Amino acid sequence: MKRVGFLTSGGDCQALNATMRGVAKGLYHIYGDEVEIIGFEDGYKGLMYANYHAMNRSDFSGILTKGGTMLGTSRQPFKLMREPDENGLDKVELMKHTYYKLKLDALVVLGGNGSQKTANLLSGEGLNVIGLPKTIDNDLWGTDMTFGFQSAVDIATNAIDYIHTTAASHGRVFIVEIMGHKAGWLTLHAGIAGGADIILLPEMPYDLDKVVQKITERTKGGSRFSILAVAEGAISKEDAALPKKEYKQKLKERAAKYPSVAYEIGAKIQEKTGQEIRVTVPGHMQRGGTPVPYDRVISSRIGAHAAEMIDRGKFGRLVVMKNNVITDITLSESAGRLKTVDPESDIVKEAALLGISFGI
Ligand code: F6P
Repeated sequence: MKRVGFLTSGGDCQALNATMRGVAKGLYHIYGDEVEIIGFEDGYKGLMYANYHAMNRSDFSGILTKGGTMLGTSRQPFKLMREPDENGLDKVELMKHTYYKLKLDALVVLGGNGSQKTANLLSGEGLNVIGLPKTIDNDLWGTDMTFGFQSAVDIATNAIDYIHTTAASHGRVFIVEIMGHKAGWLTLHAGIAGGADIILLPEMPYDLDKVVQKITERTKGGSRFSILAVAEGAISKEDAALPKKEYKQKLKERAAKYPSVAYEIGAKIQEKTGQEIRVTVPGHMQRGGTPVPYDRVISSRIGAHAAEMIDRGKFGRLVVMKNNVITDITLSESAGRLKTVDPESDIVKEAALLGISFGI
């Protein structure tokens, strides 16, 4: 009998259930009734405090299209993993205790950057861990694609599409703020797909004058409106030059004045152009709803691959997609590294050729 634990960790996304279904179907196919799946509740917390339940075939039925995660999730920052919990207990030891008490043969962790760092830590402690690449940000190092990303692109693009029609009617400048604090993949893809005029990414600190110049050029050229796709982590070139500590302080001051970055940029553009600005923040909608078919396909493939890895005893690895091939790399290779948008990449150059301004 094989015993496999599942947990979903960090921010949720659309294809978590679809991916767990993929692993489960693969395992049932390989082992028939000779496999037991244990679902840990609310991410690593469930593993720490032994909150789990046994799952069966029917749990994985009818969930391919269901967003969210049937196991629940929570953020358990990696940097606090080595700090004792509120009762003074060692979190890593607690997790190991649950793993060994349940006599697990493997632990499957569906998570993004921070979660995979913890997966790597647990693997280093001797647990049989397999990481699966989740996040709407697509910023996990080592994989071309994470599940959740394309579904979020779909929603963020829809938001820009809707804004397009109202922006055209009113002749206003609209800013759509898109999720992604450190990586701009979602903003870049949704911005291109939604026909944004200006895209501001964390990886490409913007010059406000260049942004204003683009808007002014469009107005002079007869365009009644402009649309900006702005990442949550968009940063001006002045702020990017600040020492980390000073920038953090600036962010605190900004939070007291504006709800988020898009409002700050909007106020500055309004001041410089006198144009009417409106801001839209789709926020957590971008993580909600049903996974798009692309995500259903990669989650199913990733899940099947993970089941095969369990059967082969291939642990301490992260399932990734490379050039459309589902494969795996060591968790340690990916841990602590972020996949960000390269300002010199083809996609950025092509977008610029389309006339999209990055404010640089
Ligand atoms: O990592 C996924 C993500 O949605 C980011 O794009 C976003 O910056 C962050 O999570 C929001 O986190 P929370 O759900 O904790 O507010």
